Formats: sequence, structure tokens, C-alpha cells
Amino acid sequence: MNLILLGPPGAGKGTQAAKIVEKYNIPHISTGDIFRANIKEGTELGKKAQEYMNKGELVPDELVVEIATDRLKKDDCKDGFLLDGFPRTVFQAEKLDEFLTAQGKKVDHVLDIDVDKEELMVRLTGRRVCKTCGASFHVVNIPPKKEGICDACGAELVQRADDNEETAANRIEVYNKETKPLIDYYEKAGNIAHIDGTIGLENVFNKIVEIVGE
Ligand code: AP5
Ligand code: ZN
Repeated sequence: MNLILLGPPGAGKGTQAAKIVEKYNIPHISTGDIFRANIKEGTELGKKAQEYMNKGELVPDELVVEIATDRLKKDDCKDGFLLDGFPRTVFQAEKLDEFLTAQGKKVDHVLDIDVDKEELMVRLTGRRVCKTCGASFHVVNIPPKKEGICDACGAELVQRADDNEETAANRIEVYNKETKPLIDYYEKAGNIAHIDGTIGLENVFNKIVEIVGE
């Protein structure tokens, strides 16, 4: 199954991705996670990406397309994958289609999770992520059992550098300008489903399973 998660920052893509990849046993490919790992390791790619991410701007297309398609060439993507945060521009979507077509593949479902701006801001500014395993929590919506500590591995929870008010608000604007047109793009392709992201974590996941199948 070849899946794409679409939706504004804070819609719950990463949260649902963790459940989807477990159920369907496919790799989770998040361009944001790849960049954050590179920033942590201090690579050249990380240095380049950080400039854009800290401002809430998109990393340039050429860089992202190369990273994503390189990842998709790996063996574990042979029977399916879940893309989270890629594509994010029409250019990226076209390049992805070219890449998949050349391999005789296609996108099976685009899952578009929608949440209004006010709720997005609450979610982004309240998010805390595990320093070690990357698990994601929310100070109010999805609190860890022990404040500031990851349920999964016991490490410290921190706030993402781009989750402050100003950067979060800019990310939502950039989404509306650059990424929202993708809804039309996939509407034309006829493989997009829209999911209300405010109906609760489990309900969102149940909708996804309804769309993708058991
Ligand atoms: P990226 O890492 O992709 O971030 P994003 O798209 O901004 O998405 P987020 O991770 O912020 O949100 P999410 O939808 O995954 O929400 P989550 O599940 O955590 O990108 C970061 C940056 O990298 C970009 O700004 C850009 O610079 C660069 N980049 C990455 N890909 C790129 C690309 N293709 N092209 C160019 N640049 C790129 O949930 C959010 C919070 O809400 C959490 O606290 C969670 O616990 C809570 N929550 C989740 N679900 C629910 C629910 N149902 N009810 C209540 N609370 C919930
Ligand atoms: Zn952890």
C-alpha cells in the first residue's frame, strides 16, 4: 500500500503515522524527521535545512525531492510506504509521480487530515516530543503519564524548535499558500480522502482504516 498523509502542521500526521505503519507494516517516511535527524547529527544537509525550518519556511524543492526519492529507493519500500510531510508543493508531487511511474507504481491513497487554525496553534504550541525516541505528546490533549517524561522510553520531553507561536503561525500560512493546492492536484487524480482531524485520535485512525481497508 502506497500512502500519503497530507494536512497542515499539527493536524496529527505524525501521530496517525505511528499507528498506520504498525497496522500495515510499511515504513514511515517523514521528510521533517529526516531533516531533524540530520540537524542532530550536524550534517551539511542538516545545516542547510535548519535555516528554513527555524523560520517555518519550506526547504527548497530540489533538496527535498532528492532526499525523498533516495529514501523511496530503499528495499523496505518495495511493498509499500507511508509518506508524511512529502510532497508539500505541486512540484514535489509531480516529481514523486514521475518517480513512481518509472517504477510502475502509483499512490493508492492520499489521506488529507483537516483541522482549523485555532486548534492547530493549540496543538503545535502544546506539543512535546521525546528527545530520544521521537514519541509525540501534548501537554493537555495527550499528556504523558509523568510530566516531562516519555511514556515509551523514559527520556526527557522537549519542545520542537519550530513550535513557538511565531514560527508555528508562519508554518500554517506557508501550508495554506504552498501545500493546500495539492488537494486540487490529488482531487484531479481521484485518490484523495478528507478526514476531520478533530474527532479524536482513535476515531481519526478508524476512518483511515475504513478508507485504506483492513
Ligand atoms: P514536519 O516535520 O513535516 O512538520 P509539519 O508538517 O509541520 O507537521 P507536524 O509534525 O508539526 O505536525 P503533525 O501533523 O505531524 O502533528 P502531530 O501528530 O505531531 O516539517 C517540519 C519542517 O521541515 C517544515 O516546516 C519544513 O521547513 C521542513 N520540511 C519537511 N518536509 C518538507 C517538504 N516536503 N518540503 C519542504 N520542506 C519540508 O500532532 C501535533 C500535536 O497535536 C501533538 O502534540 C499531538 O499529540 C496532538 N494531537 C495529534 N492528534 C490529535 C488529536 N486527534 N486530538 C488532539 N490532539 C492531537
Ligand atoms: Zn521516548
